[in-house]
Amino acid sequence: MQNDLDSIVETARQAFAKASTPAELENAKALFIGKAGRITELMKGMAALSVDEKKTRGAAINAAKQAIEAALNERRQALADAELDIQLKAEALDVSLPGRLREPGSVHPVSLTMERIELIFASMGFDVADGPEIESDWHSFTSLNNPPNHPARSMQDTFYVDIEGDDGIPYNLRPHTSPMQVRYAHAHIKKYAELAKAGGTIPEIRVIAPGRTYRVDNDATHSPMFHQCEGLWLGENVSFKDLKVVFTDFCRTFFESDDLALRFRPSFFPFTEPSAEIDIQFQSGPLAGRWLEVAGSGQVHPTVVKNMGLDPEKYIGFAFGMGPDRLTMLRYGVSDLRLFFDGDTRFLRQFR
Ligand code: PHE
Repeated sequence: MQNDLDSIVETARQAFAKASTPAELENAKALFIGKAGRITELMKGMAALSVDEKKTRGAAINAAKQAIEAALNERRQALADAELDIQLKAEALDVSLPGRLREPGSVHPVSLTMERIELIFASMGFDVADGPEIESDWHSFTSLNNPPNHPARSMQDTFYVDIEGDDGIPYNLRPHTSPMQVRYAHAHIKKYAELAKAGGTIPEIRVIAPGRTYRVDNDATHSPMFHQCEGLWLGENVSFKDLKVVFTDFCRTFFESDDLALRFRPSFFPFTEPSAEIDIQFQSGPLAGRWLEVAGSGQVHPTVVKNMGLDPEKYIGFAFGMGPDRLTMLRYGVSDLRLFFDGDTRFLRQFR
């Protein structure tokens, strides 16, 4: 009789050992000490025994039951330990890894320059305008008096997109901010007409248009995406002298130095006549003595004034286009333009 109990206990041990999850273990338990389990069945079978037999048989069955329960608890604990082990391994922290630092961000150096440009020109009464970077051929070239075969229109210099305008010519990624001259005038033409009707002097246009521009170019001083800031001042009596005053004032304020010379070097642009390249010369510091080109400029061509919808007999003035990237390099002594667009935080954090 003892043998059958021993073998039940042994079978239970093996069944528990086979169970690899808590659910399997509970199922195995039911086979032995559940309501219909083998031990429970043996207990029921004792009813027919004599009092003495009940005593010894009952004690033996109880011992077997306790042995099974002990085996069950042991297995329960082992499964729980294994589960905890897996969880701990999965959530392991390698405390020797360096932490992930959250660095404070900072305004990009070119954006700092843009902000400064806007502030300085706003203080001189200039509006600040924004326009599209995907431009029509007419805005980028034709309206600006560019002849049909001008090299600026070639694929070597200008990016074109796969969308054609109403004129059948593909749109371009604007190679300069000059289209904003015509766009700005068109956007305000109604106001100018009304003011002109009301009499008195003609309303002036005084605006800068900073933004991104694109050219097929890539080296230490050229990036395919770069920045320009257009300037336009038109009125009844705005002259080259005003351009010199405004631009000299701007440069001295921007570089925070009166120790700065400007040179207007004759040049050519289809949309200005006469045209001049603007060079600056620092009188002290690491760049002292060298002439550095910072902008193209000139008196707005009458054809462009006409394309703005204005009367070239009444409106005269100047435009300029400068390179904020270049200004940033000069102001901070940066030698490679590409640093501005690489996103290397070791470079950028210096402007914090
Ligand atoms: N758009 C010219 C350029 O990109 C610069 C310029 C602007 C020249 C306005 C004259 C007047 O080089």
